[in-house]
Amino acid sequence: MKAVLLVGGEGTRLRPLTCNTVKAMVPIVNRPFLEHLLGYLRSHGVDDIVVTLCYLPECIERRLGNGAACGVRLAYVMEKTPLGTAGAVKNAQSHLDGPFFVLNGDIMTSIDLRGMLSFHRERRAIATIALTPVENPSAYGVVETAPDGRVKRFIEKPPPGQAPTNMINAGIYVLEPEVLRCVPRGTPCMFEHHVFPTLLSEGAAVFAYPTRDYWIDIGTPEKYRQVQYDLLLGNCASALWAGEVRADGVDMERVTLHPSAMVEGPVALGAGCSVEAGARILGPTVLGEGCVISEGAVVDRTIVWRNVRFGKKASICESVVGDDCSIGDGSVIEGGCVLGDHVVISEGRRLEPAQKVWPDTTI
Ligand code: GTP
Repeated sequence: MKAVLLVGGEGTRLRPLTCNTVKAMVPIVNRPFLEHLLGYLRSHGVDDIVVTLCYLPECIERRLGNGAACGVRLAYVMEKTPLGTAGAVKNAQSHLDGPFFVLNGDIMTSIDLRGMLSFHRERRAIATIALTPVENPSAYGVVETAPDGRVKRFIEKPPPGQAPTNMINAGIYVLEPEVLRCVPRGTPCMFEHHVFPTLLSEGAAVFAYPTRDYWIDIGTPEKYRQVQYDLLLGNCASALWAGEVRADGVDMERVTLHPSAMVEGPVALGAGCSVEAGARILGPTVLGEGCVISEGAVVDRTIVWRNVRFGKKASICESVVGDDCSIGDGSVIEGGCVLGDHVVISEGRRLEPAQKVWPDTTI
């Protein structure tokens, strides 16, 4: 079965993490997100995948090549300028024949794709849209359905308290090739705003596939941390996660852990990490390869990329730190901060909660 992956967006909400890398390649427990997504697709029988690229395309192609290492076949299609979700699929049309999946490339989910495809075929749908419940639908595209599962209406970002349902478009579709006839070639076009409403107005068979399976989009710093908390806490699964180092079985060959250091709760520690005397790591926390947590430092519920050094008695909580950063002795980083790559925080500094620091900055 084929799928088209939409990974051309700039990931602006995830900046500064997406200044040097595309959202689909940010690490999730130390593996690029897209590798988790490809593992999921493969386990659901989808192994022929067209990747639609625009922003920082080389990040993806260089790492994943023809997809063989992930057990799938990958083809790439480039956009010179962003074509939007539907325009990107139109641009990949020459790779598509029968029905195919389309997935936003920033979703971690366990939605049953085989079940969704059977549902689509049984209903003889032209388009089937997966729906997922959210607590606050006002930031999303809400989809109202009839009792037989047909889509009645799309409501984009309804005002708080006014959505008729909390079921939103999960960014996963099964489409018949003829859907692409209502997508113009070479100009920006979105499924959500143009294609699906047009199909509805024509009375086409557009169905919704509601599910309560795990679903999260990793597109904000909070959700980016949350998906990794969920993996470490066992609230969601990925075929790529089981082999990492955890608090309950720290692999001493890969990690240097001082006897007086403390690791509490689920953690993933990359190879070559060093946790020095009296330092504390409180999970869920991820450290990428080659991180140093100096004497007395505390890393609490934080996602850290590669080669980051925390100085003596530095502390950080509920934040994200990009590659090659250095956090000075005694510095304090409060909740919700996001540091891009190559940031230096000098000794004794305190960052405000939710502060974002752009790559290559010294504070
Ligand atoms: P923000 O800038 O933070 O909104 O992120 P985004 O635009 O990267 O993602 P958004 O959630 O808006 O889009 C959902 C998915 O569609 C993401 O996986 C994007 O990479 C992808 N996407 C959005 N626009 C385009 C586009 O013009 N072309 C392609 N190929 N993919 C796109």
